[in-house]
Amino acid sequence: MILSAKNLHKTYKSGQKKVTAVNGVSLEVRKERMTAIIGPSGAGKSTLLHILGGLDRPTSGKVFLEETDIYKISDRERADIRNARIGFVFQFYHLLPEFTALENVMLPVLMRGRVAGAGAQEVKDRAREVLKLVGLESRIAHKPSELSGGESQRVAIARAIINGPEVLLCDEPTGNLDSRNSEAIYELLFGLKTGSRMALVVVTHDEKIAGKADEVIHIRDGMVA
Ligand SMILES: Nc1ncnc2c1ncn2[C@@H]1O[C@H](COP(=O)(O)OP(=O)(O)OP(=O)(O)O)[C@@H](O)[C@H]1O
Ligand SMILES: [Mg+2]
Repeated sequence: MILSAKNLHKTYKSGQKKVTAVNGVSLEVRKERMTAIIGPSGAGKSTLLHILGGLDRPTSGKVFLEETDIYKISDRERADIRNARIGFVFQFYHLLPEFTALENVMLPVLMRGRVAGAGAQEVKDRAREVLKLVGLESRIAHKPSELSGGESQRVAIARAIINGPEVLLCDEPTGNLDSRNSEAIYELLFGLKTGSRMALVVVTHDEKIAGKADEVIHIRDGMVA
């Protein structure tokens, strides 16, 4: 097991009102498996995924990455773990518009801050290699505005895997793509999982994709249904 969650709750306050987005979720994610998270809009899927990925602190409950209780450590340590061991792919790519595809993919390595010895050229070579892996060799100098949706998501995936994460968390990674591009992205994700020991967790509305998962978790009203 690589990732486990114990009795997660997340409550947001907006004005006087309280919204419970996650209401007592426990789950386990295994290495080399694909876990699909499905459920209606507003069920708490994105909130849950952010908590699992160390991006959003739960109101209560725990998340373990192997033995590490990721909300018990310092923010700095959690940021380092997120960068080195967890990959995140968003529906709308979240690429930095002023940087090229290559530079976007290099960023997580540069952020590790231990590249002084390795050198910029080595990082560049690695980024180019990962872009090749996702089929985007010919687009390395393009800025996000010069990429199609499918291409942008490939860059985002390359960025998410460049540090060799143990878990790749994807929030509706094809929610913004047509069916042909969606299929290509899923083929890519399945291939990446098979070629590594990485666990893949995907939030999706697509029953067909969920059908390919090793495990399906249904979320409804912030709970595992
Ligand atoms: N920052 C926030 N402040 C207040 N309420 C929030 C916040 N983020 C999410 N919520 C609420 O929490 C609930 C769960 O939201 P979440 O985005 O996790 O749903 P979801 O399952 O990902 O939905 P979708 O399928 O539409 O993406 C919703 O009712 C939402 O309005
Ligand atoms: Mg969502």
